[in-house]
Amino acid sequence: MIYLDNSATTFPKPQRVRETAANAMMNSANPGRSGHSLSLRASEEIFRARKTAAALFNARSESDVVFTLNCTAAINTVLKGILKSGDNVVVSSLEHNAVMRPLEAMKSSGITWTEARVYPLDNDRTVDSFRRSINSRTRMIVCTHASNVWGIKLPIERLAALAHEYGLLIAVDTAQSAGVVPIDIQDSRVDFLCAAGHKGLYGPMGTGMLIINGSTVPEPLFEGGTGSNSLSFDQPEELPDRLESGTPNVSGIAGLRAGMEFVMQNKPENIAGHEFMLIKRLYRGLSGMKGIELYLPEPDPRYTVPILSFNFEGADSETAASMLNRRGIAVRAGLHCSPMAHKMAGTLERGAVRISPSVFTRASDIDRTLSAISMVRKELN
Ligand code: ALA
Repeated sequence: MIYLDNSATTFPKPQRVRETAANAMMNSANPGRSGHSLSLRASEEIFRARKTAAALFNARSESDVVFTLNCTAAINTVLKGILKSGDNVVVSSLEHNAVMRPLEAMKSSGITWTEARVYPLDNDRTVDSFRRSINSRTRMIVCTHASNVWGIKLPIERLAALAHEYGLLIAVDTAQSAGVVPIDIQDSRVDFLCAAGHKGLYGPMGTGMLIINGSTVPEPLFEGGTGSNSLSFDQPEELPDRLESGTPNVSGIAGLRAGMEFVMQNKPENIAGHEFMLIKRLYRGLSGMKGIELYLPEPDPRYTVPILSFNFEGADSETAASMLNRRGIAVRAGLHCSPMAHKMAGTLERGAVRISPSVFTRASDIDRTLSAISMVRKELN
């Protein structure tokens, strides 16, 4: 199997991630709850992961790193823990349902959202469109750093400057960028960074993070035991305990730490360089084939992350993906939980076939994929 669905989750995981997660499961118990060595070892493991995340994203302190179930949980925490009735949120036209479904559900609590159109390859127009979408009730800009369908990157530093110019907060969904785009949360002046642990950070599934970079802290979505200040029924004020109730996923977080170390050693820019070499090879191969629909110019690190979505002329994307699967190529088709991004490109009806490489993908995998695509194309005709 040639696995090219790394935007859904990276596979395989680096050996050290698998070993670290397994070791944590074999050698640790519940962190922060007890004084015995198995509990202490788990606390050390979690602290080490927090420090690694703080170093990777240049967080102010490891306490600003909150571990979550996934990126969706981090986004929900920001939206539901901060917004109040009457607030408006500006989102981009490329948002994932991780942003849109909570916002839609929050309409019944008096929260509204406005869509700012993204213009591929034209950041000036994109920033201007965000500026024009802000109204007197806007409290926050929430946007993806990179589209999970088209790979289009948003200029988050400029959007953060815009947000602060209007006294707004900004939250960024880095599910597709963390690990392939260097992110400095303090330099970029993003207030909330939401990350998936299991994609470009190479951690296990069921891991994610919310990193806080301002004075506004979301209210917890749920309360419970933290192992701290146990005499009080009140949720602790301090981070990260305020937002981390209940027993954490110690082996997952340990694996995530190993994944982040792997990314730091390989450097996000080098990982992206390798993946861009592959995705450009794919793009050039596809653009030479008849009957293939490409929607954007060749992927470019200035404007995109290394993801490519396309279609077979006249064919449904799910049908094409299952034909590729029968030839041993794993890709994701359909709407990728991002109907907005498909609406923008006119692919809402049939979706698109998405190819997303990882650091482990080889040029020969892309060449075999191109051959398989060529065979599927002939079969479809
Ligand atoms: N959001 C993930 C994807 O794009 C799961 O496939």
